[in-house]
Amino acid sequence: MKIFNRGSELQKYALELKRSGKTIGFVPTMGYLHDGHMSLIDIARQKADVVIVSIFVNPTQFAPNEDFDRYPRDFDGDIAKCAEHGADVIYAPEASEMYRSDASTWVEETVLSKPLCGASRPVFYRGVTTVVSKLFLLAQPDFAVFGLKDAQQCFVIQRMVRDLNFPVEIIPAPLVRDADGLALSSRNRYLSADERTRALSIHRSLETAKKRIIADRSCMDAAVKDAADAITAAGGRVDYVDILDCDTMKYPGSGSCRVILAAAAFFGTTRLIDNEIFDL
Ligand code: PAF
Repeated sequence: MKIFNRGSELQKYALELKRSGKTIGFVPTMGYLHDGHMSLIDIARQKADVVIVSIFVNPTQFAPNEDFDRYPRDFDGDIAKCAEHGADVIYAPEASEMYRSDASTWVEETVLSKPLCGASRPVFYRGVTTVVSKLFLLAQPDFAVFGLKDAQQCFVIQRMVRDLNFPVEIIPAPLVRDADGLALSSRNRYLSADERTRALSIHRSLETAKKRIIADRSCMDAAVKDAADAITAAGGRVDYVDILDCDTMKYPGSGSCRVILAAAAFFGTTRLIDNEIFDL
């Protein structure tokens, strides 16, 4: 497995691969890899000649009051997991390699990125779309795999790729859960045992709301409110629970078909997200 720290070297290598006719599958990550990430690497491994994984805790997608400094890191563990799952190339730059000190260019998607996490984390998606654009230019992938735990991120990247004509196919991959139903996240390690048990209320309440809405669309607002109340009752501090049309990221209208029922809530100081995507 090759490890690159410099973007210029990765780009040169990737361009050579492309010239020799190899397909490149790409999995961008912030490291501290878990089985959810591994499922993305497995998908890339099945489809590509060469699998590139980036490991980079991207500072531009964190606001100053967020957890950039304490975001979990385990580079050696990550490398071992990537090797086990057949990744060919790791790109792990320093922040100073990724961003020049006088960098003044951003990539921003301005519609799908605004509600849900975009409302409570206003710099988040601009940081994501900027770094993912840079990573696409460096890794030159034919396709990139994004997990649907952050489904909004996946929709935003799909729109960015469409709008800016990136020659990259975006492959959404199913959200992966622990046996107890908690969506896998690198941030789960912050949770105490008690917070973790309480946090299961997010998935449970979304599932209940989803069943109610599928059975009777007219109870959508009540079901969303009850889900938020259930998370609060379990000791969570709800950031949002909302249902939106997946294509517009607006409140579902009469023509809406595929919707996302999404939640973000704090248990202790840990912010967790989860969602259900379904047809009305
Ligand atoms: O989903 C993530 O881990 C990050 O937002 C990403 C896509 C690697 C960009 O930093």
